Amino acid sequence: MDPVEDVLGLTAGYAAQFLSSLDERPVRPSASFETLLDAFGGTLPDEGSEDAQVVADLVAAAEPGVVGTQTGRYFGFVIGSALPAAVAADWLATAWDQNGFSVVTSPAAAAVEDVAARWTAELLGVPGDVSGGFVTGAQGANTTALAAARQHVLARAGWDVGREGLNGAPHVRVLAGAERHVTIDRSLRLLGFGTACLELVPADRQGRMLARALREVLAAGDRPAIVCAQAGNVNTGAFDPLDEVADACEEVGAWLHVDGAFGLWAAASPRYRHLVAGSERADSWGTDAHKWLNVPYDSGLVFCRHADAHAESMAVSASYLQRGGGRSPSDWVPESSRRARGFAVWAALRALGRSGVADLVDRCCAHARAFAELLGAQADVEILNEVVLNQVLVRFGDDDATTREVVRRVQEGGTCWLGATDWQGRAAMRISVSSFRTTAHDVERSVAAILEAAGAVRHASAHAS
Ligand SMILES: Cc1ncc(COP(=O)(O)O)c(C=O)c1O
Repeated sequence: MDPVEDVLGLTAGYAAQFLSSLDERPVRPSASFETLLDAFGGTLPDEGSEDAQVVADLVAAAEPGVVGTQTGRYFGFVIGSALPAAVAADWLATAWDQNGFSVVTSPAAAAVEDVAARWTAELLGVPGDVSGGFVTGAQGANTTALAAARQHVLARAGWDVGREGLNGAPHVRVLAGAERHVTIDRSLRLLGFGTACLELVPADRQGRMLARALREVLAAGDRPAIVCAQAGNVNTGAFDPLDEVADACEEVGAWLHVDGAFGLWAAASPRYRHLVAGSERADSWGTDAHKWLNVPYDSGLVFCRHADAHAESMAVSASYLQRGGGRSPSDWVPESSRRARGFAVWAALRALGRSGVADLVDRCCAHARAFAELLGAQADVEILNEVVLNQVLVRFGDDDATTREVVRRVQEGGTCWLGATDWQGRAAMRISVSSFRTTAHDVERSVAAILEAAGAVRHASAHAS
């Protein structure tokens, strides 16, 4: 056999073996970071090795440190699994080694992005005539969108920020809910606004920005303003009241950005679409494909209503950069040479179809409710959030240390994996159901593991006292 086919066939075998053994593996990694450094390390080899040997060594070194995000029992952060068709498409993008810079570097990558961006916008209820870009994730999407916002609001104030920068520019107000995602802050740092410019709008106990408070804060100044709203709080899953937020922005001509890393996908489900009502009125949107669409890392999308400001803030040109006709993917993102991310998104959307995405959202939300019902029915267990989406916050014994110890034991146990957080001053276990693989049986197994850990913690503290 051709040696290239040989090594790729071999690799597909390793991957299939890994995926089919998920049920027998602990969800947590089994090796420590130090062990993994040793496994990968040693001295830099002087001589090369056979491809097949390299892959075999990589699998042996890496697999003990691989986290089971491909199982249906991984509930950490907001990490989805990866759909088989999307994994396959991503492999092909790598095998084709396409640079998604322009139509010239890859007509296929440019065209697939065009179609996948349009399909995604349609599912998310984003207007059809927006500009769009494929970025690394919601962090990249927020940064790109806020760069377009900066361009637009300053241009309206008579300032060309692309040429003049921010030195001496009119002050731009940036408003966000008190429970915004932390990536908004990083975007503001990267864009030269700094976090000190952030005017925080109080949020309620679910983390929803208060629209009345937003109006008051907006009314306190008359400078160009950008409002960062959120569709899906990373802890509670709650949505800012987007319609009312859009009203408030419209009244004063503020730019409205919606950070919908995972929550915007609620729009794909007729059952949950009401949660994003008003989001279609925004000026820009950021979302992830690697979270709820279950596309492999990394993959996010940015959309913008103002194509001029979007392109002015991102696009570059040089005499040697031949681009060809059609939409040039790198005009809408901060990168130049870039991974062709559109293939995997297109494959995920083709594999699921409109009804499959709706079903994925519905199933994850139903599993989240089942977690809340099964755990919340226990004595000494409190569900801290209204489970409106796929996120559940659980507290044990109304005690921070107890809650963190239950999380630690569950993580160590390996049946499932979930993280801890602090929600408005109280420690909580944080469950995010974002995988197409999660079944009712996974939820039951995980609930049993969580209750066993909680029982062990109770027992240990009863003995200690
Ligand atoms: C609301 C929100 N915004 C932004 C992000 C950042 O996303 P990413 O890590 O994919 O860049 C997240 C991640 O969980 C999120 O929940």
